[in-house]
Amino acid sequence: MILSIESSCDDSSIAVTDILSKKVIYHKKISQELDHSKYGGVVPELAARLHAEALPKILQETKQYFPKLKAIAVTNGPGLAVTLVEGVTMAQALCISLGIPLIAVNHLHGHIYSLFIEKQTYFPQTVLLVSGGHTQVIEARGFDDFEIIAQTMDDSFGESFDKVAKMLGLGYPGGPIVEKYAKDGDMDRFKFTIPLVNSPKIAFSYSGLKNQVRLQIEALGSEKSEQDISDVCASFQKIATAHLIGKLKKIFKTREIKDFSIVGGASANLYLRDKIQKLCFENDAKLHLAKLQYCSDNAVMIGRYALDAFDKNNFIEFDKITSSAKITI
Ligand code: KG4
Ligand code: ZN
Repeated sequence: MILSIESSCDDSSIAVTDILSKKVIYHKKISQELDHSKYGGVVPELAARLHAEALPKILQETKQYFPKLKAIAVTNGPGLAVTLVEGVTMAQALCISLGIPLIAVNHLHGHIYSLFIEKQTYFPQTVLLVSGGHTQVIEARGFDDFEIIAQTMDDSFGESFDKVAKMLGLGYPGGPIVEKYAKDGDMDRFKFTIPLVNSPKIAFSYSGLKNQVRLQIEALGSEKSEQDISDVCASFQKIATAHLIGKLKKIFKTREIKDFSIVGGASANLYLRDKIQKLCFENDAKLHLAKLQYCSDNAVMIGRYALDAFDKNNFIEFDKITSSAKITI
């Protein structure tokens, strides 16, 4: 079995995965969403302190599996430097005391491997990664053979939902809240413009849209009704998604894509899933999705990547691992 640890942002999560069957034996995630909600975003130092409390508590429940562990896997970036180190230090201590090897996992590779939980790995495919920190289209060709073909120039898709929710005073994380309000809203009431709509650039940008929404919220003043809020959310979600779809259409035109997937926390958005489903249908591509519970950050996807890394003896010496906020795909 492999024990995996994830602490790159505001979720403390540990999983145990069986190497041969790929089955998830144990998984627990303690989310800090409520603790950060009143600040409208993640407060790194608070997150680090909460990981320091939660991770040992979860680990306690996995003690029965210790004799069967063959490796420890841990996210070492990208993420918040002060929270990554909580998981990495725990992983190092476990490797030393149990005398087993360490696997360093890039958080973004973990999101891609969320597609393969309790399944075989299948490549090649084109992946849209939409999370709080990233918006990227990745050509995934094989184990550690990933190429970014488009990415955001500023804010990420998920982050823009968080910011809109913050401006409306709706709490954190914004994605699920904005999506919920949008369901009751009129998506055509506010006419936001699609970012980079006239640009041939295959890239994403969300900071301009965020400013358009901010101006609209200000124009509505302090007496906003629930309907106003729903209409802002629906109009924003429509344009944020239209921007993604517009650029993806261009990508589909220039490449032969047979298998397409969406991963990352924001891939839980059903409006986005629906639009991408249509796009794949029009282009004769098969759409792959991770199970909803594995879209947001979790240690199971880290463990799933580690299964393939274990197969390839892809270990790192426990004193050589460094965690970094800046690791890329
Ligand atoms: O992958 P994830 O859990 O953490 C990072 O690696 O960043 O993604 C979290 C992000 C947050 O920005 C959150 O607002 C967004 O995913 N998100 C959503 C939805 N659920 C989560 N965004 C849009 N719609 C959703 N339903
Ligand atoms: Zn993530």
